[in-house]
Amino acid sequence: DIYSIILCGGSGTRLWPLSRKSFPKQFLSLGANNKSLLQLSIERIKNISHPKNRWIVTAKGQEELCSKQVGQNVSRVLVEPEARNTAPAIALAAWQLMKENPESIMVILSSDHSIQNVRSFEQTIYDAIKLAEQNFFVTIGIQPTYPATGFGYIEQGLPLDSEGSILSPQKLAEVPATAYSVRSFREKPTQTAAEQFLRTQKYLWNAGIFVWKTKTFWNAFSHIQPEITSLIEKTNSENIGEIYAQIENSPIDIAFIEQTSHVACVPANFDWNDVGSWSAVRECFEQDNNGNTVSGDIFVHETKNSVIHTTGPFVSVIGMENVAVIATNDAVLVMPLSRSQEVKKTIQHLELKN
Ligand code: GDD
Ligand code: MG
Repeated sequence: DIYSIILCGGSGTRLWPLSRKSFPKQFLSLGANNKSLLQLSIERIKNISHPKNRWIVTAKGQEELCSKQVGQNVSRVLVEPEARNTAPAIALAAWQLMKENPESIMVILSSDHSIQNVRSFEQTIYDAIKLAEQNFFVTIGIQPTYPATGFGYIEQGLPLDSEGSILSPQKLAEVPATAYSVRSFREKPTQTAAEQFLRTQKYLWNAGIFVWKTKTFWNAFSHIQPEITSLIEKTNSENIGEIYAQIENSPIDIAFIEQTSHVACVPANFDWNDVGSWSAVRECFEQDNNGNTVSGDIFVHETKNSVIHTTGPFVSVIGMENVAVIATNDAVLVMPLSRSQEVKKTIQHLELKN
């Protein structure tokens, strides 16, 4: 059985003022269709797993938002008492599955990404599932376009066929590679390392999607992180708060992927974006004839290539180019889109003020 595990406990602030600690990015509707990133993430897996095999792992305080947005399309919402990053969140789901269905395949997905062409996405996931059945830990690789320091990097090794066997150069002339073995994995490298990775052309970005067999994962993970798994194995509805207080914050990439062997990577041929800035929002969502991505009660005149968004007052924008104008009930952001990375300065300012 294929289980989709959607991680939904992050607290992004890069899309301030729309995203807040109490209302992270995954819950935002950014396009004209009024669906949130979480809702789109769930729509995307409709052919991959049955609703009864779709689980969300979220953090306390967000469970109501989750349930409200996903309704019957998900069968279970696991609630962590505190966010401890992705390794404990994945372990919590994996342990439940160990008890219920250890032979199952876990497809672990983020809730806050934008993916175009769902067909190619499905094909990539099906390829990954086939390799997971051969006990590979499968990652999905994205062709990098700049030396990002906020992603994980996958060093590609040898070409593999759909069953995970190494393709000889002769064979490779006949069948294209489905995947690659992974030589190394580096989570969030320094700028210098990222630049070097890009130059060698041997690295892909990690899309933050993982596919593996539950039992294979639990065995390998228990070996590498016995503290996390022995704590998770003890959890029940009464003691989970106490237990989480003892678990260290750890991302799956560092706690597991960097340290394990038998990792494979399926290169993606779909457009992927982590929607980490307002300029990314424009790239990911429907644009009008003037290249604007707009939503809410607005008037836009002679304005090009901009993001105009309001959930608060009526907004009018005239004669602008390449800007973001974002309004909510209690805050307004105006900036050139080229400076989208600087939103964090506002957050720092507000944190100092409070
Ligand atoms: N339940 C739960 N609990 N979910 C969490 C937690 C947590 O404590 N922390 C994060 N998440 C969710 C987020 O909501 C998001 O959907 C997903 O897990 C990934 O977490 P991020 O915090 O966004 O990770 P990242 O962007 O820094 O890095 C990861 O994703 C990159 C691609 O976007 C890594 O896997 C990188 O290697 C990868 O390149
Ligand atoms: Mg992220």
